[in-house]
Amino acid sequence: MNAPRAAPASLALLPTCIDAVPVATSLARQLDLPLAAMGTNPALCEEFDLLLLVSVPGLALQLTRRGLAGGPAAGSGKAPRRGASQALPGPVRVDFGSDGMRHRRRSGHNELLGRAIGVSARRRLQVVDATAGLGRDSFVLADMGCKVMLCEREPVIAAMLAQGLQAALASGDEWLLQAARLMILVAADARDLAPPQLASTDVIYLDPMFPARDKSAAVKKEMALFHILLGEDSACRDADDLLLWAIAQDISRVVVKRPPRAPVLAGRKPSHSVAGKAVRFDVYVRRALS
Ligand SMILES: C[S@@+](CC[C@H](N)C(=O)[O-])C[C@H]1O[C@@H](n2cnc3c(N)ncnc32)[C@H](O)[C@@H]1O
Repeated sequence: MNAPRAAPASLALLPTCIDAVPVATSLARQLDLPLAAMGTNPALCEEFDLLLLVSVPGLALQLTRRGLAGGPAAGSGKAPRRGASQALPGPVRVDFGSDGMRHRRRSGHNELLGRAIGVSARRRLQVVDATAGLGRDSFVLADMGCKVMLCEREPVIAAMLAQGLQAALASGDEWLLQAARLMILVAADARDLAPPQLASTDVIYLDPMFPARDKSAAVKKEMALFHILLGEDSACRDADDLLLWAIAQDISRVVVKRPPRAPVLAGRKPSHSVAGKAVRFDVYVRRALS
């Protein structure tokens, strides 16, 4: 994947079949985004960087040829030869029942997060996930018994989350249902939450975006898409401010997910950190969890 751009990308909705046209049209209106012509091939698309694929079962975000090249062909000089098809990474969707989520649960990868948040069998914690993204950390926390408010300020990602939650609630899978019933989505900037919305919150959780380390960075497909969708600079710049907002709230603790060797946010030393090989959770304790 090429270097992430500084500005947000261009995006359109693409209905993938005739039955999806009404949903795509109304969602395009709601999100104030254009509709791409049905049949557009992402691997040849030079009009948009990303396409939100709308099918009858759901939404998926797909990089295009232009997005892969890092922007309009004329400006970047990196686009492949006109007319040539190119292998693109597959689309990204919110799928709480995916094999990846099931594996994450079985493999014990969730233990560090649970420890950092303070999950215990004795109490049901209320967590605000202030950077919900594709909702995977939120789902893991709900699966551990927390009540989770998912805040997502990017409308396209919030729409994907809403659809993923709906699908989980309609799945008939008791595991998915139990967790999804503990999750509530707020499509807004977390810093705009009104005090009553935070009233019974124990923990604010932050997983802000961080800059890709280099061009070949091991940023996952999803994060690479986020960098393109949101614009790396603006998305990463807010992270310090978000921590300062979170630790000013009347709650028990703030937990921040960071890459293992990344600096702390806003120069604020955490009370302690819970670190693994691939991730570190900085924990800012305000008072004991009740
Ligand atoms: C790195 S992703 C989070 C990934 C997520 N933890 C997961 O498990 O899928 C960061 C997300 O936070 C969102 N975000 C950043 N600042 C925010 C804010 N102040 N309020 C709400 N959402 C925010 C971004 O739009 C992006 O979707």
